[in-house]
Amino acid sequence: MNAVKPNGSFKMRSSLSILRGCLSIVAMVLVAGCRPAGAPDAGGAGGAGDVYTIGMSQCNRNEPWRVQMDADVKAAAEQHANLKVVFNDAQNDTLMQRSHVEDFVSAGVDLLIISPKETDPLTKPVAEAYDAGIPVIVLDRAVGGDKFTCFIGADNVAIGRAAGEWIVEKLGGKGKVVELKGLMTTEPGKDRHKGFREAIAGTDVEVIFEADMEWLEDRARQEMESALDRFPEIDAVYGHNDPAAHGAYLAAKAAGREKDMLFVGIDALPHEGVAYVQKGILDATFQYPTGGAEAIDVALKIFGGEKVPKKITLGSRVFTAENVAKGGEELKMEEEAKP
Ligand code: FRU
Repeated sequence: MNAVKPNGSFKMRSSLSILRGCLSIVAMVLVAGCRPAGAPDAGGAGGAGDVYTIGMSQCNRNEPWRVQMDADVKAAAEQHANLKVVFNDAQNDTLMQRSHVEDFVSAGVDLLIISPKETDPLTKPVAEAYDAGIPVIVLDRAVGGDKFTCFIGADNVAIGRAAGEWIVEKLGGKGKVVELKGLMTTEPGKDRHKGFREAIAGTDVEVIFEADMEWLEDRARQEMESALDRFPEIDAVYGHNDPAAHGAYLAAKAAGREKDMLFVGIDALPHEGVAYVQKGILDATFQYPTGGAEAIDVALKIFGGEKVPKKITLGSRVFTAENVAKGGEELKMEEEAKP
């Protein structure tokens, strides 16, 4: 029997290496037709009839908003016969996302789109891709430095500020708030916090409980359970995303207290946050567009040799019980470059 074991594990190893071999062949086939991209900011490597392969590195496809981002990229790319997108899901694992980026670089994709999990750990692999001559479009969560071609995202400070102003107004300038923060090693988490705190400063709206829910509904629900245990009065919950606000609502409902407080979130996907507002679960949600379609617009410009802006700031809308039936209301923000 002992003799069988090594043999068995050898067989296992050899089938694994065959599988790996097959996968890399598939990968090579997928990127067939790739060509050197030239200077990352200038693009223009291709001629008429070229097929371009785009590597899309998604940090986590477990959340509705990220599923929507990938769907937006796919739908926009499908309009162009010369674009092929290869999607990777890092399953909320920073190290896995690093290696996905490295794999795309060694496979020689024509362009990389990345929506990074965290700022610091993904800065280096993105810079290396850029230094290797691959144009890089960063979506939603920023990386550090300037070694990328174009960043696309909405103004999270402005959105956080608008959420704060909305809560101050609804509470008549006074009340107790729970803030369920997004991962604080990401720019959207820091910015949504900053804008909100600016808006409530100088009012009698105070944050009595805050926690990092890492963008996850389950974590937000657990944190809200602690807040409910500790505080008999909570007037509003500010969730840095709709899953957080929804998790908080579920915790409050289980405690029979959901009618005592307002629930405010960010994202406003039609089938998530906006639907929650329609059902009276959330009181307000602020749209955070995925930027997926815009990323493909920018990619096409890069392939066509056009110069693209370093940063594109997307707009936002607010949805409340009063305005949801007419499609929400646009948030007034400073104008920046549009794609
Ligand atoms: C999804 C998500 C969104 C949020 C964005 C911030 O992972 O948490 O809900 O708006 O990321 O980066």
